Order: sequence, then structure tokens, then C-alpha cells
Amino acid sequence: MKSMASKKLLELLNMGIARELQVSIQYMWQHVQWSGVKGFAVQGELKQIAIAEMKHAEAIAERLFYLEAIPTTKPEPIFVCKTLKQMILQDIKDEEGAIKLYKLTIETARKEKDQTTEILFMNILKDEEEHHDTFTTLLEDLE
Ligand SMILES: [Fe+2]
Ligand SMILES: [Fe+2]
Repeated sequence: MKSMASKKLLELLNMGIARELQVSIQYMWQHVQWSGVKGFAVQGELKQIAIAEMKHAEAIAERLFYLEAIPTTKPEPIFVCKTLKQMILQDIKDEEGAIKLYKLTIETARKEKDQTTEILFMNILKDEEEHHDTFTTLLEDLE
């Protein structure tokens, strides 16, 4: 039997997908466009994280589809930025937004006794906290 997810929870999952699509493209284009000396170490990180975000989008979409809703194909606005510092500052902001959204999603799933969604987002949240940590460290290295 499928769980009866609320409209609110389904919307939160689609908001998550839109964010994941945004950052996977954003980080991918940042790592493609950045070629400075300082950016050399950053490129590899951005590439890895872009792939992780794509996997998040896929995992959330699979869960949403199982809950009988249609995953969005529209990313949130993408900000590639010009300088490495601008990029990292933007990425820190986006990770903070993801952390906030996924904490709310976890809370909502818990209230609805949807443990699968709760566990999925707890795992994703752990990744986002690591991304936030990585970008924060990169920013410190730039200063
Ligand atoms: Fe993500
Ligand atoms: Fe992330």
C-alpha cells in the first residue's frame, strides 16, 4: 500500500527536486568555466558535488513518483557567477537553503509517519551539510 502523502509534503519534494536540478547545473558550469590557478583544486570538488546533486534529484524524483506525483523538470534560477569568490559565496547560500528546506521536509515527513521519505532526506541532509562545510573551507582558503 502506498503512503498517503499530503499535498504539502509532495510540494516540498518538488521544491527539493527544483533546487537539486539548479545546483547540479550550477556547479557543473562553474567547474567547466573556472580555470584560475586557485580554482584548480576547486574544480574537482565542484565536479564531485555536481554529480552528488544530480543523484539527489533522481532519488527525490523516484520517491515523489512512487507517491504518485509528477517530478518537476524546472530548476530554480541558476547563478553561475563571474569570480571564484562570487561562485563560492553563491554556493554556500544555496547549500544553506537546501539545509533549511530539508530540515522542514524531514519534520513534515515525520509528522506524516512517512519514514522512507524521512530517512531519504536525513541522508541527503548529511551530504548538504558536507557540501556547506566544503564550500566554507574553500572560501577561507581564498581569503
Ligand atoms: Fe543536493
Ligand atoms: Fe549540496
